[in-house]
Amino acid sequence: MSDIAKMNAAAAALEFVEDGMILGLGTGSTASHFVRMLGERVREGLRVGGLPTSEATRRLATQVGVPLIEIDQADRIDLTVDGADEIDPQFRLIKGGGGALLREKIIAHASDQMVVIADRGKLVDRLGAFPLPVEVTPFGFTITAKKVFDALRESGCEGADVHLREAGAPGRPFHSDGGNFILDCACAAIPDPEGLAERLNRIPGVVENGLFLAFPRTVRTVIVSDGEAIQILEGAEGH
Ligand code: 5RP
Repeated sequence: MSDIAKMNAAAAALEFVEDGMILGLGTGSTASHFVRMLGERVREGLRVGGLPTSEATRRLATQVGVPLIEIDQADRIDLTVDGADEIDPQFRLIKGGGGALLREKIIAHASDQMVVIADRGKLVDRLGAFPLPVEVTPFGFTITAKKVFDALRESGCEGADVHLREAGAPGRPFHSDGGNFILDCACAAIPDPEGLAERLNRIPGVVENGLFLAFPRTVRTVIVSDGEAIQILEGAEGH
């Protein structure tokens, strides 16, 4: 899908930003467009405080002049704008393709509103074609990977395949910003995302999973573009 679609979705998300907001800044190519555009608005006088969801986004935001605040100094998060790897009709998401799922989830979950920006190709009928990222501690990751595999099978994911994410050279594990590993869990479809998330969360060694299901107090809005048209899909509270 073209970069224009990602840029259009990012530009539409700017309309949700108001002066004085504390903003969660997502990670990935689509979110990066948003951060750059936000930087332009800041140069024109917009006042915001940004909370980056990754070190990469922290560097970009600093470069384009978005003022940042520290997560533990934020007394509220008004809005988070972030990309996604998959979006289903209930606005449930798979995230973590860029490996930032833990910080992304902490920040989105604490936000009053989450605006998901994506090219239209990210809309799916059922989650799971994109391998689900699961962040695990390096200690005991082989044991954890086996339990993750069992959890996938028990929650109905057929043909599950669990891979340690690599970075740079073969055999060299990718490290998240928190120093953890990522298991990419391929299965054709995830028939019960809530059940799977619950099972994964019960495994010692699993730090977080990339299923972004309903968050109790976060209104979720999805903006997609196919490169020409933009569609804004409004969500209900708790999604
Ligand atoms: C990073 C993410 C990204 O939002 C997701 O991978 C989408 O990335 P892109 O906008 O580059 O397609 O979850 O952890």
